[in-house]
Amino acid sequence: MQTPVPDYLQHVLQACQSNAQGAVADYIPELAHADHERLALALCTIDSTLYSTGDDQLAFTIQSMSKPFAYALALETHGLNSVLSKVGVEPSGEAFNQISLGQDNLPKNPMINSGAITTHSLLPYKKTVSRAEHLRRFLSTLAGRELQFDERVYESELKTAFRNRSIGYMLRTVGVLDEDPESIVDGYIRQCAIQVTVQDLARMAGVLANGGLCAGTGQRLLERAVVRQVLSVMMSCGMYDAAGDWLTTVGIPAKSGVAGGIIGVLPGQVGIAVFSPKLDEHGNSVRGVHIFERLSKDMGLHLMEGTPSAQTILQSRYTVGKNNDVVVYELRGVLQFTESEMLLRSLQDEPTGTNRIILDLTNLTLVHDVGARMLFEGVKRLKADGHQVVVIDSERLLSDTQSKGHKRSIVHTPLDVYLERFASVK
Ligand code: DON
Repeated sequence: MQTPVPDYLQHVLQACQSNAQGAVADYIPELAHADHERLALALCTIDSTLYSTGDDQLAFTIQSMSKPFAYALALETHGLNSVLSKVGVEPSGEAFNQISLGQDNLPKNPMINSGAITTHSLLPYKKTVSRAEHLRRFLSTLAGRELQFDERVYESELKTAFRNRSIGYMLRTVGVLDEDPESIVDGYIRQCAIQVTVQDLARMAGVLANGGLCAGTGQRLLERAVVRQVLSVMMSCGMYDAAGDWLTTVGIPAKSGVAGGIIGVLPGQVGIAVFSPKLDEHGNSVRGVHIFERLSKDMGLHLMEGTPSAQTILQSRYTVGKNNDVVVYELRGVLQFTESEMLLRSLQDEPTGTNRIILDLTNLTLVHDVGARMLFEGVKRLKADGHQVVVIDSERLLSDTQSKGHKRSIVHTPLDVYLERFASVK
């Protein structure tokens, strides 16, 4: 059998192809040459499976879709408070290139140009490695291949960047930038000229969907807290003055770019990328928006749909041992607040006594900090009731911080090996 997902994506693409509304961006002269018939869609699951269709090998410039990633890199480099002292997180309700600041004289958010130019100034750099080059390397790691700058688009935008220069000078005037605004704006324009395909973008979005972890390599590329911050800002500000409409109809944190791309990130599920060059009045791809609306509706991807994950935490409970005095709880899924609450409620029904209780984490996919805290609080209380408690973490899901102070309750041997060994020494 072949999975129907590729057929479905192709079907969605075909259904949206006839939408000929909008116009190609021409304020960057090089973008005006884009072939407006081009259309592509890619989807990357959190375990790094990539599906794509249409013009999925076609490279175009990332433009404003670079903004959330630059924001992530700035947050990783300086920490949240330092970044917040330069750029706010409030939706502006204005066009992406509005020459304006908030009442505190800071850019309102990192998704509009004033915030993105400021964020660019917060990227790491060395004498020999520019900020844009740092971002290019970071995006290449996220995409899993070496990305390039589109020199023609960069040169073209640089020649006509009067508005962005005005924004740069405004930021310099109020002290948000403390360097030459010309060079910061130049770097920002170069950041926007990184070439990507929808496959690259879907992979990059997939890492965000997976909480900053690259499932392919197992490498942590971004801190979970950074991803949460980035996705929150994408949700409230990513689609500019169409953000409210987008939240209600699509409900996926997203970011668009004037070359015609849109990325979307559904936390814990998928990264999505579309490309089609004709834009609406907000600067968002017309067919791109159409495709996202369709995907969200058909596949129940709206963030506010919620997931009944709590029903899946307890895979099984059984007793073993000669006197049935060893109680095994096999857990599965994700351990967050809701699931932990449900687990603790089951553990509450364990009669007081000296039974050995084994909590097997092997089939969990993720343990959130709150899940670990609640789990070990349960362990402490069971022990206080007289039980011996063992947490089996054979997949080493618990981080050092999560297991700190609980090492004596944790074993890393697989459940069957542990039970065998335990039975033989008993
Ligand atoms: O700052 C600019 O004008 C462009 N380099 C990027 C703008 C952009 O992509 C807006 N998004 N839809």
